[in-house]
Amino acid sequence: MDESLLFDNIHVAYDKADVLSGVSMEVRPRTITCLLGANGAGKSTLIRALFGLTPPRRGSIIFNETDITGLPTHRIVGMGIACIPEGRRIFPKMTVHENLLMGAYQERSQAKIRSTLDRVYTLFPRLAERRSQLAGTMSGGEQAMVSVGRGLMHEPRLIVIDEPSLGLSPALVNENFRIIRRICEEGVAVFLVEQNVRQTLAISSYGYVLSQGKVVASGTAESLKNDVQVQKAYFG
Ligand SMILES: Nc1ncnc2c1ncn2[C@@H]1O[C@H](COP(=O)(O)OP(=O)(O)OP(=O)(O)O)[C@@H](O)[C@H]1O
Ligand SMILES: [Mg+2]
Repeated sequence: MDESLLFDNIHVAYDKADVLSGVSMEVRPRTITCLLGANGAGKSTLIRALFGLTPPRRGSIIFNETDITGLPTHRIVGMGIACIPEGRRIFPKMTVHENLLMGAYQERSQAKIRSTLDRVYTLFPRLAERRSQLAGTMSGGEQAMVSVGRGLMHEPRLIVIDEPSLGLSPALVNENFRIIRRICEEGVAVFLVEQNVRQTLAISSYGYVLSQGKVVASGTAESLKNDVQVQKAYFG
């Protein structure tokens, strides 16, 4: 089964002007694919298009050989695509444990929920230690872990993470990248939106660079390390 995610000629506009104009990319199974680009390039817009929040004006999105363009968010999540949105959006007044359970709300089997919880707590021992703490009182980095852990609770085939290292200390950024690599090693494809170019390319297999709503460079992470478009996208 081909579990690739394909964006084919995606156009998105909020009002008149296109924010994305003709974006095509592929996220392969069991790999980390990154999406790089400066502020306002259209990265989060592409993620919103994927999850049916700003449906494309033109183009199609294919997952697992099924056209998912513009489907409601819960259907897309139900197909095995998890989203860790920009800004994390944890439930601050709920405990860490309750936040994680919210990620499994579509799962009926208690045994399945327990085994997935075990897996998440193994990946994030910090969350296991603090499972009874209110999520809103966790540190920024710990909240990032809650957010990723919650995304993993419905056992996705693909996890989309929008700028996980934003606002984190260098040590926590390193920890985050380590965990993202682990998630991929467990067989989950990762579509990683980041501004942290060097570290992102270091853990990715493939990458795309978005500038003003268009793909201006793509290829293996190795080839992008020296690509002039990558420099341009960030440093003008
Ligand atoms: N709801 C909206 N209505 C109108 N314009 C919007 C809306 N959301 C985003 N935009 C515009 O679309 C463009 C792309 O925004 P987007 O959030 O996709 O960028 P981004 O690449 O994720 O940037 P960042 O790295 O800062 O998160 C920006 O110019 C932004 O102002
Ligand atoms: Mg964004």
